[in-house]
Amino acid sequence: MAHHKSSQGQWSSRWAFFFAAAASAVGLGNIWKFPYITGENGGAAFVLVYIGCILIMGLPLMMAEIALGRRAGRNPIQATRAVAVESCRSPRWQIIGILGVLTGFLVLSYYSVIAGWSLDYILKGLMGAFNGANSEEISTLFNDFIGNPWSLSFWHTVTILSVIFTTASGVQKGIERVVYFMFPAMLIILLGLVVYATQTGAFMQGLTFLFAPDFSKLTMDSVLLAMGQAFFSLSLAQGAMLAYGAYLPVRVSIAKTAILIALADTFIALLAGVAIFPIVFANDLPITAGPSLIFETLPIAFGKMPFGQVFSVLFFIMLFFAAFTSAIALIEGVVAWANERLNISRRMAAFAAGGLIWLLGFIAVFSFNIGSDVTVFGKNGFEFIDYLTADIMMPLSGFLVAIFVGWMIDKDVIKKELGIKNPLYHKAWFFTVRYLSPIAIAAVGIDLLFF
Ligand code: TRP
Repeated sequence: MAHHKSSQGQWSSRWAFFFAAAASAVGLGNIWKFPYITGENGGAAFVLVYIGCILIMGLPLMMAEIALGRRAGRNPIQATRAVAVESCRSPRWQIIGILGVLTGFLVLSYYSVIAGWSLDYILKGLMGAFNGANSEEISTLFNDFIGNPWSLSFWHTVTILSVIFTTASGVQKGIERVVYFMFPAMLIILLGLVVYATQTGAFMQGLTFLFAPDFSKLTMDSVLLAMGQAFFSLSLAQGAMLAYGAYLPVRVSIAKTAILIALADTFIALLAGVAIFPIVFANDLPITAGPSLIFETLPIAFGKMPFGQVFSVLFFIMLFFAAFTSAIALIEGVVAWANERLNISRRMAAFAAGGLIWLLGFIAVFSFNIGSDVTVFGKNGFEFIDYLTADIMMPLSGFLVAIFVGWMIDKDVIKKELGIKNPLYHKAWFFTVRYLSPIAIAAVGIDLLFF
């Protein structure tokens, strides 16, 4: 099979791809999850485990996904099919692409709702809603906000419409333009927040929490947590890297670029911790994870601090940029598929896919208010989709990618695609994808499902 040039267009340069992929990797996971689990699981000890997971699972699989995408130059579903057929394997291996696209679809439905929250919090910050508020007032503010289906629906709609317009504008005119602006802007704001954090008086306390190694806190659970986080944070197993890989010009080294993406993602996750913890500690607040860290704890801190209003606005702008650049990656696979397979224009595909995701998003919207009593296996709608995607679909499709690339497809094809010059490094990659990654993922999967 000769290289097929994607009908969606190509990245204008290696850096365009790097920006788009790194911006997709850096998202809510880096900001609200990584710092917290690191602090809770032994600081630097956990960081080491996490880096280990990136090395034996995240990075090799990211390289594999990008390579598969580029080899085929098609949307994730047809790409996995084409590469399978090329190696005389069953076209059914396209299940990898199908699972990926479906996972991206589901994840985006709630991701967009939460990206919408940050838009609302930018406005709240601008209006000074956090100034001098105590923790009850901030909690009321948050609970009133998520308790109102209208406001959540409004911001969810704004986010999805922005995603649709960006995606409809195409790879270069849409995605590239957005990531070239939002990714550096996000990084600059984050660096500004780090400088701000150094002025809080609790900077060292924050650093100690994040980096002092405490191996006694490291349990088997932390190892599994690190693996799951590596997956989610690098945007793997959701069709995103497959889709973005399809637009990568042939001359670009996949191995080198993937290393840069993984480095950027990890560095920014650490930086988020360096920015957030001192601010929280300086105000004697408890460290939590997820929505409550971002939307309840931090606003109290900002409300009490000098220039807190300015930095609260900057913080939520940063959060929105991080989430938005992940959202446009989550929809790319479906849109490319609809465009290439169903023969509708990219614009129509963006509207159709975005419209369906918008509808699906109401499950997440209502699970915070009028529908909070509706549960499946004891989880509300949002929690259930999160569980289904992160704990079941992602490990499963990651496992399949490892098996597919490690055992099924033509070794020379993938070798040429990856372009690792040093034969030793290539062997190490191959060994990892063939043995280490599937075993590691199977271990996480079994643990998550049964324990
Ligand atoms: N990696 C993003 C984060 O850390 C979120 C994410 C998960 C994602 N899966 C994705 C982004 C797939 C794009 C594509 O928050």
